[in-house]
Amino acid sequence: MRIVMIGAGYVGLVSGACFADFGHDVICVDKDPDRLNALREGRMPIYEPGLDSLVKENSEQGRLDYTGELAKAVSQADIVFIAVGTPSRRGDGYADLSYVYGAAREIAAAVTGFTVVVTKSTVPVGTGDEVERIISETNPAAEFAVVSNPEFLREGSAIEDFKRPDRIVIGTDNEQARKMMEEVYRPLYLNASPILHMNRRTAELTKYAANAFLAMKITFINEMADLCERVGADVQDVSRGMGMDQRIGSKFLHAGPGYGGSCFPKDTLALVKTAQDADSPTRLIEATVSVNDQRKRAMARKVIRATGGKVRGKTIGILGLTFKPNTDDMRESPSISIVQALVDKGAHIKAYDPEGMHQARPLLPSQVTFCTTPYEVANQASALVIVTEWNAFRSLDLDRLKKVMASPVLIDLRNIYKPEQVRAAGFVYACIGRSDGGVPDAPEMPRAAE
Ligand code: NAD
Ligand code: UGA
Repeated sequence: MRIVMIGAGYVGLVSGACFADFGHDVICVDKDPDRLNALREGRMPIYEPGLDSLVKENSEQGRLDYTGELAKAVSQADIVFIAVGTPSRRGDGYADLSYVYGAAREIAAAVTGFTVVVTKSTVPVGTGDEVERIISETNPAAEFAVVSNPEFLREGSAIEDFKRPDRIVIGTDNEQARKMMEEVYRPLYLNASPILHMNRRTAELTKYAANAFLAMKITFINEMADLCERVGADVQDVSRGMGMDQRIGSKFLHAGPGYGGSCFPKDTLALVKTAQDADSPTRLIEATVSVNDQRKRAMARKVIRATGGKVRGKTIGILGLTFKPNTDDMRESPSISIVQALVDKGAHIKAYDPEGMHQARPLLPSQVTFCTTPYEVANQASALVIVTEWNAFRSLDLDRLKKVMASPVLIDLRNIYKPEQVRAAGFVYACIGRSDGGVPDAPEMPRAAE
């Protein structure tokens, strides 16, 4: 199959490289000249574990190429995937579909012969209809079908997720397009990945439903964590106790500083808008969005409480800036609100992230000092805050940290340490949802009636 992937970002580049690895001929198209130059010079424009060797190997084998010339690539393609961004539209939370529609117009002018146009970007219900309309109106002679094939990969484990998906969703009523999509994914039959066929609108909604449900699950356990702190319970045990029930499942029940990233925040907002417009409001998702927003700010208050109620003039060290480990992606990372709130309260911030500092610099206040190791961050700091659970932070030398810090305070927003171990090392330790997660005065619980 000759595949064109429009957009060489986190989804486009990973999907393109994986399709090439399946044996297809793939051309990735991007408008960003820096991204294309990096790829041509053998540098990865994003950090994703394993991507560099996958891209290198398939480029060397001649199955993967990059270009800025969309028309030429599309004119030779059997299948064109649209994998451009669909960020939140500024001010109102709707998905900004201008990149998708822009790509559709360019594709329309270039298609020759029957071509399947696939939306891999996450797009609201009905976007496929609009893409179809744009292509027919721009080029009435075009022979094409528009398919929805949402992507479920996670950053940090994107290649594994793409090659071993729990399911592949294909939304189309066109028989020829359906057969071609099955051919594209045929190499995955060996892994027994189920392919779910459905209509296009259903496929579009399925993607939002999945992301919103996961965001809601995280938010649920985060609220349980807050409750645990108030009543002297342990959220990690609650999570285990719930998660072993197979109807619930143990994944996405890790309490933390609130979900971030390029997808959950924008997709929950977009789903809320779709539902409101359809006069079928999704109140659970509305609550999820607002609880998660408040949580990020609450994390800064937790840090301030753990440092004795005042951070003005103090140095606070931040370990981890990206929204999750194993990515350089800073989009909607909880670190952004936490750092801003601490700076607003007069703290001086020192920060380190293994891969995210390049993306972090323009997003964080200019006063932040970027360091090269966790120990440099800790030097003279009045508190150290673990915001992202990179492996490099899981076994820090606590004695060494204590020696260089102004005061030994560790705030672990990902619960990667054992409280007793950190306290035994002489630290004040605050965490999430484990009895005294940082709230000093949990209320006395009512006694059973005597
Ligand atoms: P991204 O911002 O990393 O990449 C998008 C790329 O598209 C950019 O490089 C941009 O230059 C390029 N582009 C935009 N318009 C173009 C055009 N007309 N022609 C050529 N290139 C163009 O975005 P992403 O994170 O890969 O997300 C893409 C889509 O996939 C979004 O809808 C997102 O919701 C969805 N998605 C993302 C993930 C993820 O983990 N990031 C997972 C599943 C689904
Ligand atoms: C998420 C989904 O997991 C993917 O299936 C989906 O394809 C993708 O969004 C998308 O549509 O773009 P991603 O954003 O890469 O993937 O990362 P996740 O692992 O889902 O983490 C999202 C956020 O939730 C992170 O901030 C993470 O720290 C947080 N999280 C996750 C928790 O706080 N607790 C958990 O138990 C799990």
